[in-house]
Amino acid sequence: MTGKIPEELIEQIRTQSDIVDVISEYVQLTKRGRNWFGLCPFHGENTPSFSVSQDKQIFHCFGCGAGGNAFTFIMDIENVPFVDAVTKLGNRMGIHLDIQKDSMQKSATNYSKSEENMLNAHQYAAEYYHHLLMNTEDGEQALNYLLKRGFTKEDIETNGIGWSLSSWDALSILLQREGFPLDEIEQSGLIIKRENNQSYFDRFRERIMFPIRDEFGKVIAFSGRVLHQSDNEAKYLNSPESPIFHKSQVLYNLDKARSSIRKTGQVILMEGFMDVLAANQAGIFNAVATMGTSLTPQHITKLKRLVEKIIINYDGDNAGWGAARRAAEMLQAEKLKVEIAVLPDKLDPDEYIKKFGSDSYKQILDKPQSYISFIMMHARRNKNFQFENDLLQYIQEVLEQLVGKSPIERDLYIKQLASETNISEDAIYTQFRKLEADQAKTFKRNIQKDGQTVDKPFREEKKILTATDRAERLLLSHMLNSAEVVDRILNGANPQPFVHDEYIAVFVRLIGFYEEHNTADYQRFLEVLEDNALRKIVMEAALSERDPNHAEAEISDCLKHLKKQGIVTEISKLTHDFQEAEKMHEHKRALEIAQQIIILRKSLSAI
Ligand code: CTP
Ligand code: MN
Repeated sequence: MTGKIPEELIEQIRTQSDIVDVISEYVQLTKRGRNWFGLCPFHGENTPSFSVSQDKQIFHCFGCGAGGNAFTFIMDIENVPFVDAVTKLGNRMGIHLDIQKDSMQKSATNYSKSEENMLNAHQYAAEYYHHLLMNTEDGEQALNYLLKRGFTKEDIETNGIGWSLSSWDALSILLQREGFPLDEIEQSGLIIKRENNQSYFDRFRERIMFPIRDEFGKVIAFSGRVLHQSDNEAKYLNSPESPIFHKSQVLYNLDKARSSIRKTGQVILMEGFMDVLAANQAGIFNAVATMGTSLTPQHITKLKRLVEKIIINYDGDNAGWGAARRAAEMLQAEKLKVEIAVLPDKLDPDEYIKKFGSDSYKQILDKPQSYISFIMMHARRNKNFQFENDLLQYIQEVLEQLVGKSPIERDLYIKQLASETNISEDAIYTQFRKLEADQAKTFKRNIQKDGQTVDKPFREEKKILTATDRAERLLLSHMLNSAEVVDRILNGANPQPFVHDEYIAVFVRLIGFYEEHNTADYQRFLEVLEDNALRKIVMEAALSERDPNHAEAEISDCLKHLKKQGIVTEISKLTHDFQEAEKMHEHKRALEIAQQIIILRKSLSAI
């Protein structure tokens, strides 16, 4: 059913798309606690019972029971089959899927024709600039500069660094000769239209050219550095925001750093792409940088898919400290583990490495500050404890950070505060409790304003579940979690334990799924169910509270209950048949039925 899409590609699209992003395009979501809530798009409602879990990458409506993952959301809301949903999500992230649909070849891409042209022109320009740097006399000076700056030829090649000529239109002319539509290429900022004229000139001239790539390695922009600093020119010139270059989304080097980020379990976040390249020279490959913007939620979403731990390594000057603090707060709010590697003497990472060497730099990265101790360092900066005001403000700033922290952390940092300020721990604690109480009040007010109860949004469940409903749900949840459970039941005394038809239908499909896949993966399973009534059942089971420590006991309880229930159902059906037979005076048949009922009643008491 998944057609021609390779399983790895489906997996890639699944892991790289974020369900909150996807659903946000259709539903307005607000974050409450760990989850996001909104009005369910699948049934009319006035109070939000539709919830999205970023951690689990699933959605679920507590009102109507709809639920699934990003793929099934698209299937349900757009009413399209699985393959189309995958294609659509793939397109969003620039993954081209050529799917054989029926006999018709359909090529699906994320990019419009003109965006394709811009990307091709960037690739072409990158190769051209690189050639100029490596193989021509014009590029010689720039090449020497780079070599002196510590780049090896290999570094230059792997990063595709180049050189742009001093000519006004060397690239424009080439692009035209190659047949690129210049009016479209202009939108990507590579070339600029002359006023009152049809001709174009090059944006980048006489600069060392650093290609900026997206997370899939496509060149989407450039940054050009002057070779000789002059007063009337910016040192770095970047491509403008364009249809293919969105600064709020791009993390420089993410394409190359991905595997190292996964391997090390952490990413180093920097301010400048030059810093990333310097870190590479020092043998550190899990670094990325924003492109001249501060960190955005989109950047964070990208990082969150890859790692939990982020080390901020910004410049050591005041601007860098401020930016690091803002970034740290955002990352912390997103429940990421964030630490800050602080550089001395206003140095940027590149300068630090040049000055103190790779080993010293690695030591700094190995001993980053915790979030709170960084906040304390930051709060201490530019303060003079001789002045009472500075002192009190410092204590207040730090205490604000400690609200909601664990008692251990609180204790630790309050002790530290006391020793730094010479104010007694008792006094600081009193201040802290006051702050805590104030914040709790504001928090309550905010909740009331929203008209929502935050703690128990799930109490709305309308349908009253019978014990049998619960047993079916729980049993299915164990089955979704382990192929082995299904196997065992199939080989047991009661190979079809479910009572309700929908559950039986899900069970049959789950058996088929395990024959193909072997391992449990309820998200993948959801995707193969075309019927969204069945998806609801799977979703509800997946969300039900299974106790993994007592799986065996739970499973056998469920089986027992369902077996009983199956017999009870059978008895009532037979009782009905018996009465029918009596009415029709079919005494022989009535007797047979009565005997069956007796046998069943006996077996019931034996369970
Ligand atoms: N940067 C950027 N976009 C800009 C300007 C700068 O991404 N428009 C990055 C550069 O990659 C550089 C960092 O920000 O790594 C710091 O820039 P800046 O302080 O202007 O440059 P310097 O550190 O003085 O540059 P260099 O080390 O090349 O002399
Ligand atoms: Mn620098």
